[in-house]
Amino acid sequence: MELTTPLSLEQMEAHLRMKLDEWQKEFILAEEPYLILKMGRKCGKSKALAFKIAYDCLNKDFSGSDGICIISKGMRLAKELFLDVRSILQACGIKFVARAPEEDEAYSSLSQMILPNGNKVYALPCGYDGVTIRYYSFWKMVRDEDAFIPDAVDAAVSACLAVHGAQEIRASTPFGTHGSFYRAWHDPAFRRWERKTRECGRVTREWLAYQKKRLTKAEFQQEFEAEFTEIAEGIYRSAIIAMCSRSDINWQDVTKKCILFLGVDFARFGEDENCIAYNWYDPEAGISYIKIKTIHSKFRTTQIAGAVQYIAQHEPKFRMVVTDDAGIGAGPTDILIEKLGKRKVIGVSNHKRIKRVEGERSKYMKTDLHAHLIKLMENGKVVFEDDVEIVRSLLEMRYKYTAQGDLTIFGRNNHAAEAIVRAVFPTRLRHHHMSPWIETIKHDEAQVF
Ligand SMILES: Nc1ncnc2c1ncn2[C@@H]1O[C@H](COP(=O)(O)OP(=O)(O)O)[C@@H](O)[C@H]1O
Ligand SMILES: [Mg+2]
Repeated sequence: MELTTPLSLEQMEAHLRMKLDEWQKEFILAEEPYLILKMGRKCGKSKALAFKIAYDCLNKDFSGSDGICIISKGMRLAKELFLDVRSILQACGIKFVARAPEEDEAYSSLSQMILPNGNKVYALPCGYDGVTIRYYSFWKMVRDEDAFIPDAVDAAVSACLAVHGAQEIRASTPFGTHGSFYRAWHDPAFRRWERKTRECGRVTREWLAYQKKRLTKAEFQQEFEAEFTEIAEGIYRSAIIAMCSRSDINWQDVTKKCILFLGVDFARFGEDENCIAYNWYDPEAGISYIKIKTIHSKFRTTQIAGAVQYIAQHEPKFRMVVTDDAGIGAGPTDILIEKLGKRKVIGVSNHKRIKRVEGERSKYMKTDLHAHLIKLMENGKVVFEDDVEIVRSLLEMRYKYTAQGDLTIFGRNNHAAEAIVRAVFPTRLRHHHMSPWIETIKHDEAQVF
């Protein structure tokens, strides 16, 4: 075990075959008690956090405390960072075992690691008030996507840094002009780093131009220029999202009594985020339990279709998958129909116009899919896994008029929301009194139903 030999940042970069940005190096070595990164998306915040944690594990002794804690809204994001820390340490030669460790062995579960020198790292979800973290005594606290961590968590956090606390580290893109991340940025106690996405050499001009076209000015400023902007609430109000989110879902129970519908959103041009939403639907209570899986890759959409096919064929409770079968989704939808059969695949084209039965009005399918989800949420029929990607994606969905004067819905980070509205689509077939246009759908998609 190399742990007694400290590793310099340069040596770590060599192990990872990676060059850190200047600001990343400066941040990783910074020892001030309060650090904050306010940056646009994709600047390398999470990577810098992971490196910093790994660097400390190898070079510092904090074995007398509960170690470094990664918190974020929801477990998925905290875990992603945790696993990145672990893979950096592995690349630096640390071999983790998953059983009770012997001397000189590094141990890791999916949310806790202990190095032979006694240094520990945890990934913990903060929930809504931080009760899950309150009783630890940490050396450092790392908050990723901090602008989404509820204010109520702060009291718990300061309690668990009271004894051994050496550093509080926050990173986020801004979100609104309120909340604890916003206040921390304006607090002189923090050492600050600020960056716009266009200053990051790894993001192409074309991709940014594409984002600029998709978003309102205020949204682009917030997301990519890292400015605090005032943006009105979207179509999903934060209060109702909070009401529908739970961090204590017993998934074992849920998967036992529920059937499974999937919703898929394929990455668009120049993007690399594909999202699969799981709707575990309890037919008796009429309740949907939702979680998501994002697949970050420039994989071809056919490979994402392969991932869906795998779930469908290995999960006996699987019933149906819903995709957008226009544009980028057309190819993979065909593949899925071929592999799973017509009855198990529904294509709902976002841009298809649907006629309402009353009157002659028509509207986009997309608007209607979202209206269905909102209705389910208002009626307490949806439970979301507490996950920052779900919250953010829903919060950012907005109405917009198209050039033709039609009302439609968009969001800068809409993968999760789009996948979710598709995943809950099949439930409306059971409640068709809720959907006046169901006859139209039946007619259009007669072969599917
Ligand atoms: N110094 C670096 N060299 C190469 N790739 C990097 C570097 N820093 C970050 N990345 C990569 O850039 C992408 C975005 O980084 P990430 O840390 O996720 O950004 P953020 O958290 O700011 O959105 C990731 O794929 C990450 O691995
Ligand atoms: Mg990040």
